[in-house]
Amino acid sequence: MIQRTAEKIAALRREVSYHSYRYHVLDDPVVSDAEYDALYHELCALEQAHPQLITPDSPTQRVGEEPVPRFEKVYHPAPILSLSNCFSVDDLRAWRQRIGRLLPEGARLDFVVEPKFDGLSVVLRYENGLFVQGATRGDGEVGEDITSNLRTIRSVPLRIPVRPPGHAEGQQDLPGIESGTGAAPPLLVVRGEAYLAVPDFESMNARLAELGEKTFANPRNAAAGSLRQLDPGVAASRPLSVLCYDLVASEGVQLETQLEVLDLLEQLGFPVAPEVARFDTVDEIGPYYEEWITRRESLEYEIDGLVVKVNRLATRDALGVVGRDPRGATALKFPAREKTTRLLAVRVNVGRTGTINPLAILEPVDVGGVTVQHATLHNYDDVARKDVRVGDTVIVKRAGDVIPYIVGPVVALRDGTETVIDPPDSCPSCGEPLYRPQDEIAIYCINAACPAQLVRLVEHFVGRSAMDIEGLGSKTVQLLVDAGLVDNVADLYSLRADDLLALEGFRERKVSNLLDGIEASKERPLSRLVAALGIPGVGAAVAELLATHFGSMDALGAATQEDLEAVEGIGPHTAAALVEWFSIPRNQTVVQGLRQAGVNMKEEGAVPAAERHERLAGLTFVLTGTLPTLSRREAKAMIEELGGKVAGLVSGRTSYVVAGEKPGSKLVKAGELGVPVVDEKGLRALIGS
Ligand code: IVH
Repeated sequence: MIQRTAEKIAALRREVSYHSYRYHVLDDPVVSDAEYDALYHELCALEQAHPQLITPDSPTQRVGEEPVPRFEKVYHPAPILSLSNCFSVDDLRAWRQRIGRLLPEGARLDFVVEPKFDGLSVVLRYENGLFVQGATRGDGEVGEDITSNLRTIRSVPLRIPVRPPGHAEGQQDLPGIESGTGAAPPLLVVRGEAYLAVPDFESMNARLAELGEKTFANPRNAAAGSLRQLDPGVAASRPLSVLCYDLVASEGVQLETQLEVLDLLEQLGFPVAPEVARFDTVDEIGPYYEEWITRRESLEYEIDGLVVKVNRLATRDALGVVGRDPRGATALKFPAREKTTRLLAVRVNVGRTGTINPLAILEPVDVGGVTVQHATLHNYDDVARKDVRVGDTVIVKRAGDVIPYIVGPVVALRDGTETVIDPPDSCPSCGEPLYRPQDEIAIYCINAACPAQLVRLVEHFVGRSAMDIEGLGSKTVQLLVDAGLVDNVADLYSLRADDLLALEGFRERKVSNLLDGIEASKERPLSRLVAALGIPGVGAAVAELLATHFGSMDALGAATQEDLEAVEGIGPHTAAALVEWFSIPRNQTVVQGLRQAGVNMKEEGAVPAAERHERLAGLTFVLTGTLPTLSRREAKAMIEELGGKVAGLVSGRTSYVVAGEKPGSKLVKAGELGVPVVDEKGLRALIGS
């Protein structure tokens, strides 16, 4: 009996591990979240009933163990080396010449180029396939034992090779493994970089800020801070990932090139970055590097350069090491996205919700290929904490897509003429006194009639992802507000040609285009209108959920906190913000004004409440690829909201495959089985019609 249970547990463990690998490493799950959860819970229940059968490689063991008083030392099996730096392709050519002189005359080399991940170096040790220890780099000889923290990272395999369920060991030969049985080598010490993806970093920081906890300056610090937590429970709550790129030590493995190393790691189930290229000459790396200077912006994680490695491992070894840097590899760094410049002044900005934000006006400076003359100073607490003063030489940083920000002043360069920046007492736009809620860092202008807030709100209302009114740029909005023609967003719909013609720079043509644009916007779907209103926490995606669920502005306006929270994807904060927004008389007047102007207040084809849950009943969907506007979670929520099911695997029972960009093997499968394929538009049509 216990034998049977043990087998059952082992089988479940393999299955859960495999699906977790498909999800976290390959980003291509083959079962739905619900199916995964069911398997996971079955495993938990069995393990709970038979705790003696729990093994360290069980996927249930990732949740975070007991806190430790300090980290133990780990002696690395080989030095964990660093890299020399090149800051230009010329530097790289010089590197190539230097190593060329150390090799036999005319020796041919080829190079592997990988991204240089900007995270924390980690060393993962596997004995007979089992993850037994994980460490930081430390001084390169001795690191710290952070095994329990690394265990919580879903993409770190707890047992290798990762295999589909039912796929026994030895069924597949792995490249370079001597036994030839497809089993794991006796020893494998893998090096990788632990990191936080930029969106995960941003949402984590937002959460920390909300809880009043310390935020991190950048994803790298956040990753390092999370991994050096003595409480693995904290590490478990941080969305860390890892990418592997090197073998530090091994037994039973025979590999000749870096490409083979990466290939083996990938086949064993380690996360390996797909952005790897091979070149025969350093000259070819030049254009590739140039391309990456912009391409880096589109990656989800931060990289601070490329790593160029001699592909042949024997050559790399023969080249030796200088200090801590191997000669046979080098980092080709990107231009710094940090520069110093002077802070000329601080402008006070008023946001759409009345937040008062300091904006730094800088002496223009080129930061990594972009001229920067403005940078955010976040808020006045930040200004005080960093002690930034007008006239200071400051460090400006650009990271990913975010707006440049000020890291801090260079205090050593002060000459005493710098002036301290104090928060304003009154709104720079309307002159009303400012308000600072208790426990909040932000300062607000709470005058509902503040012209600056109105301008921001109207800009938002007419924006591309909202009512999309062409011909209404920031300048025009400011003009309309200044002229007293627009006092709230509904006033846009009562603008008359005569009023507009009286404004500076407005000719017949411009006026009629603008009025046409305004007229056309009356037909926008309800979701866009809801997003346009500027309700805190209600962006395009949330508005979409609300519009599909409630079907009309009336129903949405009448919804209670409970009704709102019942919508999948709407949390208590957003629900509260909605209730609050609709309770304010001024907002009610605006909605009324929009209605009277003839703005569409219904979601076309929205399903009446009674039928709602049956709309997609009996239909099973499989999602693949990236949809243009919906995330996987949102699409799933939308389908389930209407009674449909979302499965992970295409089968004869699948009703539709919803395919986005870069669809996976599921699309091929759909073709084979003759399952109809729709895109996001098609999905919306199914829901709407
Ligand atoms: S190779 C001989 N490859 O960059 C092996 N390192 O500045 C030496 N890093 O300490 C390292 N991405 O933590 C290598 N694809 C990559 C890397 C990488 C990031 C880190 C690593 C190293 C640091 C050197």
